[in-house]
Amino acid sequence: MRTTEPFVPIPEDVIPQMLSLASLKPNERLVDLGSGDGRIVIAAAKLFGVSAVGVDVRGALVKACRRRVREMGLSGRVKVLRRNFRDVSLRKADVLALYLSSYTLGLLAPKFTRELRRGSRVVTFDFPIFGWRSAREVSFTPKGWKKAHPIYLYLV
Ligand SMILES: C[S@@+](CC[C@H](N)C(=O)[O-])C[C@H]1O[C@@H](n2cnc3c(N)ncnc32)[C@H](O)[C@@H]1O
Repeated sequence: MRTTEPFVPIPEDVIPQMLSLASLKPNERLVDLGSGDGRIVIAAAKLFGVSAVGVDVRGALVKACRRRVREMGLSGRVKVLRRNFRDVSLRKADVLALYLSSYTLGLLAPKFTRELRRGSRVVTFDFPIFGWRSAREVSFTPKGWKKAHPIYLYLV
């Protein structure tokens, strides 16, 4: 899979909304495919106490994220892999928190179906997974944005 996604950081205030919608619990493992500067994995570890794994192909982002994780004392809980997300196993993930286009979500959907365990959840901001039926959808207006945008929850 080519790198189809630019780095567009998710608004920080969306993250707790997403993670609450996914009913993230402290003993769970969260994965962000295309983790960018790591804001989702860092917030998940800090606010929800979970283990979190971020995956990104862009070396500079991975490096900056690892530095931030170290500075925040979260190295025990947050790992960041410099990899193509196509090549990362999702078998141990409880929750995927994703900010990716519907095009990329569509390319990854068969992998989700193959690898995610029963009971795991996928939560996406702004872009749905076409062909999947969401269990819940909420709207949220990030600070500084003009209108509400959807957050989708999918149950596996
Ligand atoms: C829209 S940004 C989201 C960043 C972060 N998850 C957030 O919400 O702030 C998408 C990210 O996916 C990464 N990406 C794109 N294609 C990728 C691939 N094939 N494997 C791993 N990461 C990829 C980009 O480098 C970018 O950081």
